[in-house]
Amino acid sequence: MSSPSVVLVYHPDEAEVYARLVRLPATHEVALRVCASEAEAASVIGEADVVYAWQFPPALYGKAPRLRWLQVMGAGVDWALVPELPSRVTVTRAPGIFGPWMSEYVLGWCSWVTQRMEIYRAAQREQRWRSDVLPGRLRGKTMTLVGVGDIGREIARVARAVGLHVIGVSRSGQRVPAVERVYRPGHLARALAAADFVVVVVPLTAKTRGLIADEALAAMRPGAWLLNIGRGAVVDEAALLRALQAQRIAGAILDVFSTEPLPPDHPLWRFDNVVVTPHVAGPSTSDEIAPVFNDNLARYLRGRPLQHVVDRARGY
Ligand code: OXD
Repeated sequence: MSSPSVVLVYHPDEAEVYARLVRLPATHEVALRVCASEAEAASVIGEADVVYAWQFPPALYGKAPRLRWLQVMGAGVDWALVPELPSRVTVTRAPGIFGPWMSEYVLGWCSWVTQRMEIYRAAQREQRWRSDVLPGRLRGKTMTLVGVGDIGREIARVARAVGLHVIGVSRSGQRVPAVERVYRPGHLARALAAADFVVVVVPLTAKTRGLIADEALAAMRPGAWLLNIGRGAVVDEAALLRALQAQRIAGAILDVFSTEPLPPDHPLWRFDNVVVTPHVAGPSTSDEIAPVFNDNLARYLRGRPLQHVVDRARGY
């Protein structure tokens, strides 16, 4: 009799929750191992065929001779595509889940800017009637999406629905629904110069690390806002600080940082025109990711091709 397939569910805080939502098919024998720490995972990784994880410790891949498939619980896959991960392991992502969350985050914070929410709330605290200040509108403004993958496209759809013009930047420059024009990275400056809101939503790869640095920031309009919801390292934080200090852009809304949590003494905390949120723009929710995993698990057990496979050479 063949031994059961072993699925290792790994999450530092919610391993049990994710494990409860795994649907074990009646047709195959599957054993679940539920781990919330590196030490726990180290004791079972040797028998695992499948890892279903958030930020799995790379040091353990070398002890995983049976591992064939890694399902990522999250939007980004950069933590999974490490040199330690053997090339025989297929990595899959969870598309379709984060775009709806992140589009609300983006539109919410863009509205915070145009509706001048901070000013009215401050006035309210002083019981002041600030009828001298009028809100602006999103309609007619331009959003440039640096990255028009599955998440960027959903943001484009929602932004378009409220009347924003949407421009994109992608590696291929191919047309995308709801995006008026897609530029290739060689024309990044032109795409940025058109924007009232620049939204960075590219994956972190060797090509995108530090993509938004002095030159890109200099291309932005002085009235434009930068939103980073992708990965901190795509924006050169030193360059961003220079741009903010010199008031070369209107401000920044940042959900991701080179170092997370953002250290308490980091200068980005101290700008009035910088919003810091703690990497929450696209939360991973177990009940949304479970169907993606369960569908692929059924495929895996039947020997059928997995869906949403990451191209490891491209990095997403
Ligand atoms: C991520 C996430 O990958 O929050 O950053 O899902």
